[in-house]
Amino acid sequence: MVRVENSFQLLYVSRLAPGCNWEVVKEIVAAARRQNPVHGITGALLFDGERFCQLIEGEEAPVRALLQNISVDARHTDVRVLFADQSPRGRTTQRWVSGYCDSHELEVFDSAPGPGEGVALDWFLSVLHGADME
Ligand SMILES: Cc1cc2nc3c(=O)[nH]c(=O)nc-3n(C[C@H](O)[C@H](O)[C@H](O)COP(=O)(O)O)c2cc1C
Repeated sequence: MVRVENSFQLLYVSRLAPGCNWEVVKEIVAAARRQNPVHGITGALLFDGERFCQLIEGEEAPVRALLQNISVDARHTDVRVLFADQSPRGRTTQRWVSGYCDSHELEVFDSAPGPGEGVALDWFLSVLHGADME
């Protein structure tokens, strides 16, 4: 397989921590908008009022370092990686975006398969294309 540089993809789901207000989403988005471009990271964060689902794309090292930070962030729980691999076709996102979607749309990930399964990524991309992103 031809290796496309800078295009490691990682997809995870998590849940807003109990007792955590929706207000935290604004803080998270602000930090991500500030920091992701510095590390060459693109991708998308979806929030459905209860669950987060985020695609992170870039060089493998910064992507994994960001996941490390994110996994110990107390504002959410149950972080579960659904997919982590080099993309043979390059990145699917040009910049980092975020947005809200309907709650039933991320429910599908409650029983989604683990790392290596492209199905979850395809699902995410179809939800992303229908969501209102900025
Ligand atoms: C659901 C979720 C998604 C996040 N996404 C990002 C992100 O894309 N980029 C980022 O820099 N921080 C993100 N964060 C915040 C990180 O967990 C962490 O707070 C931040 O990277 C720490 O940055 P600092 O200590 O350098 O300010 C996210 C946090 C949560 C809970």
